[in-house]
Amino acid sequence: MKKILRIDSSPRSSRSQTRRLTQQFITQWCTKYPDTELIHRDLGHQPPTPVSEAWIAAAFAPPGQRTESMTNQLTESDALLNELIAADILVIGIPMYNFSVPASFKAWIDQVVRIGRSFLFEPEDKQQPYKPLLAEKLTFIIIATGDAGYEPGGPYFFLNQIEPYLRTVFPFIGISNLHFVYTGNDEFGGERLQQSLDAAQQKVQYLITNTIGNTIKKEV
Ligand SMILES: Cc1cc2nc3c(=O)[nH]c(=O)nc-3n(C[C@H](O)[C@H](O)[C@H](O)COP(=O)(O)O)c2cc1C
Repeated sequence: MKKILRIDSSPRSSRSQTRRLTQQFITQWCTKYPDTELIHRDLGHQPPTPVSEAWIAAAFAPPGQRTESMTNQLTESDALLNELIAADILVIGIPMYNFSVPASFKAWIDQVVRIGRSFLFEPEDKQQPYKPLLAEKLTFIIIATGDAGYEPGGPYFFLNQIEPYLRTVFPFIGISNLHFVYTGNDEFGGERLQQSLDAAQQKVQYLITNTIGNTIKKEV
């Protein structure tokens, strides 16, 4: 049985375009694969704690030298990492905030990109001092924007600080099987928004239909 970790990072609920699409993804995926196990991490409604000085001291202390209070500092990070490690598939909804990810999603990244747990730092290895530790995961990332044209090839891709960032940080910990879906025009509403949503919904359907094992037959 495959495990999906669904991550939502919009603070909006029923008005959220990303939640609409992550929900559609889960519904259609589970229709195709009914034995899927689901885990839902709601960063938009329960944001992770930003890392602190005490967290950093704990994370960078060798595990055998951590005090009890240091171990406690890492409880949230351990829980977030354990559910990420256990997942085979990630379905992530990200609203564009000021061209980048929302603070709650960045706080999650800072909790799960952790030395000794999701990557190794071996300075003596001059060729490759940083080594990813996580197993590969089929990852779907749904991005919603107020305007449109932020996707690769679009007129505003140069402003997009989400996809280039995620294509850097996820492979750093071992997750490079990334597939993006964009929906735009939230600020315009009406037909423009509806057309964007329709296209995104079709892409979600296409990705699910064309998933074979861990690959997408032919991405459009
Ligand atoms: C704080 C904030 C910053 C935003 N920044 C951008 C932006 O840089 N570019 C853009 O096109 N839309 C921006 N938007 C619009 C959102 O990306 C858009 O409403 C999107 O649909 C939000 O996702 P959601 O519907 O899942 O909540 C911003 C919205 C908010 C609330």
